[in-house]
Amino acid sequence: MNKLIATSIEMRNKARAPYSEYKVGAAVETIDGKIIGGCNVENASYPLSNCAEQTALFTAIAEGNSQFKAIAVATENGGSPCGACRQVILELCGDIPVYICDKNGLVNETTSKALLPNAFDKTKLK
Ligand code: THU
Repeated sequence: MNKLIATSIEMRNKARAPYSEYKVGAAVETIDGKIIGGCNVENASYPLSNCAEQTALFTAIAEGNSQFKAIAVATENGGSPCGACRQVILELCGDIPVYICDKNGLVNETTSKALLPNAFDKTKLK
């Protein structure tokens, strides 16, 4: 199993998901080969919860990274990234491979663009 996928699966162990009990891990690979993980972090005020993909990407940005090669997301059952995460991934990463995994490994390989056709793109507005 490659390191990006393995990290996304490991990151599920760090999830804070006392309300949904649905642990999500994610890992993003930077252009220079660094792998940065994230997990979902839930809050009693549910909408304040943070998805794993966004935790990974926001951590990576805060650590000074701005270009990304690929992202992996791991759930119990191989669930796909939510709509909000699709928007965040596409804007911060462009069109990159997205590896969707369950607790055992890769279940589906797609791309950020395929996950969000006709995306909102403010840079194209006049
Ligand atoms: N979740 C993620 O971390 N990523 C997604 O793409 C979908 C949903 C989290 C949010 C919440 O903590 C839990 O999964 C159940 O919805």
